[in-house]
Amino acid sequence: MENRNSHPGKSKSRKLGLLSSLTLLLLSLPLSNAATRDPSKKPIILDSSGGFEIGGKVLTNPKKPNETLSCDHGYVEYFLPWTPRKTSLVMWHSSSTQVYQNRWDGGEGYKDKFLRRDYPVYLWDGPRVGRANYGCENITYVPWYRDQANFANWNFGPKFKNWWPDVQFPTEDEYAWQQATSARYDEMDTEENVQLHGYAMSVAADSGKLGERIVYVTNSAGGYRAQLAATMSKKNNIAGIVAYECIGYVYPDNVNITAGKWGFGPTIVPLEDFKRLAKLTAIQFIWGDHRQNSTSFVQDSWRAAALINQYGGNAQVFVLGNDTSFKGNTHIAFADMNNDQVAGALDDFLAKNNLDGYVDNAKV
Ligand SMILES: *[C@@H]1O[C@H](CO)[C@@H](O)[C@H](O)[C@H]1NC(C)=O
Ligand SMILES: *[C@@H]1O[C@H](CO)[C@@H](O)[C@H](O)[C@H]1NC(C)=O
Ligand SMILES: *[C@@H]1O[C@H](CO)[C@@H](O)[C@H](O)[C@H]1NC(C)=O
Ligand SMILES: *[C@@H]1O[C@H](CO)[C@@H](O)[C@H](O)[C@H]1NC(C)=O
Ligand SMILES: *[C@@H]1O[C@H](CO)[C@@H](O)[C@H](O)[C@H]1NC(C)=O
Repeated sequence: MENRNSHPGKSKSRKLGLLSSLTLLLLSLPLSNAATRDPSKKPIILDSSGGFEIGGKVLTNPKKPNETLSCDHGYVEYFLPWTPRKTSLVMWHSSSTQVYQNRWDGGEGYKDKFLRRDYPVYLWDGPRVGRANYGCENITYVPWYRDQANFANWNFGPKFKNWWPDVQFPTEDEYAWQQATSARYDEMDTEENVQLHGYAMSVAADSGKLGERIVYVTNSAGGYRAQLAATMSKKNNIAGIVAYECIGYVYPDNVNITAGKWGFGPTIVPLEDFKRLAKLTAIQFIWGDHRQNSTSFVQDSWRAAALINQYGGNAQVFVLGNDTSFKGNTHIAFADMNNDQVAGALDDFLAKNNLDGYVDNAKV
């Protein structure tokens, strides 16, 4: 965990060769001072920011009834603009909020882009991950050598360091690759944890503390958890899901689909719960580039969208590489080098679905 937070300056203790290349890279990092301020950018003006824990439970020590543990809650960090729009964007990572905070090269990420656009932004850590790691059960973190596999999983290219020629990643920037692969938390991809995450978020949504018009902006298995949260929610505060490369789907129990037990679905829910997805204003399953339509999760997204629409919903599959002129988008398109364009597509989605209005008394 320390590695993720360590300031690049700490690498002084490492090998000299690495130090000099890092120094060069550091010089190319964006500086947040007035000299480099981009005057064309609207400033970010916040009313407030903060955070809170939500959901979870209190366990009693079976041997000492006067001892308890508060655990299995989620953690929310929020940023509320001075002149807010009505829709809250809840950024739900698969395994790291960092992906929303910066572009691959350290440039502006979705969090700041959408704060500049006056959307209230919430960063979510589900139970047991990130800043919510007080679990109610024993957790075992098992390190495994996955950096090279991540390269292909995130669709930077077909195999490690074999980049797609048009990939929206700074391929020459070793520091960016190092950041991408280390800015991770253990996702806890078990069916039990997926349920736990969906449930904690449904409590958060129903609490009203995320606003009354929530759009989940998710990545990877975050989209799977968001679908579950929508089926578990008892109120109507969830307005939409924008799922970048959603891995894992929720289906109703009246179709012949077998539940998966591996932590990536499918999850089968009662039809009445599934119909809650059809009540959302809009759902978009987004894929990057260099994805075959025949890929099982892509086909799942078509199937889930069709079922949601069958019950009167408004779900869509949107393929960046084919439905727009954007090329080379990865598994995490909102951190890609063309994330201005990708954010523009999200603007369009929000506007088209009337999710871009301002709070009535906001002075714009
Ligand atoms: C819990 O109860 C035990 C006795 O049963 C007592 O010794 C201990 O001080 C109590 N602890 C707290 C935190 O109240
Ligand atoms: C959790 O780990 C502790 C320490 O090893 C052990 O005493 C306890 O039984 C474990 N609990 C569960 C639920 O496995
Ligand atoms: C349900 O799916 C299973 C496995 O795909 C298949 O063997 C079975 O015939 C299907 N049943 C119905 C009623 O379609
Ligand atoms: C995008 O288009 C290419 C070329 O026609 C096709 O091979 C691919 O399957 C399409 N991808 C998706 C997700 O539809
Ligand atoms: C992708 O698959 C879906 C569902 O099977 C189908 O409706 C759609 O036309 C396909 N798209 C392409 C580009 O082949």
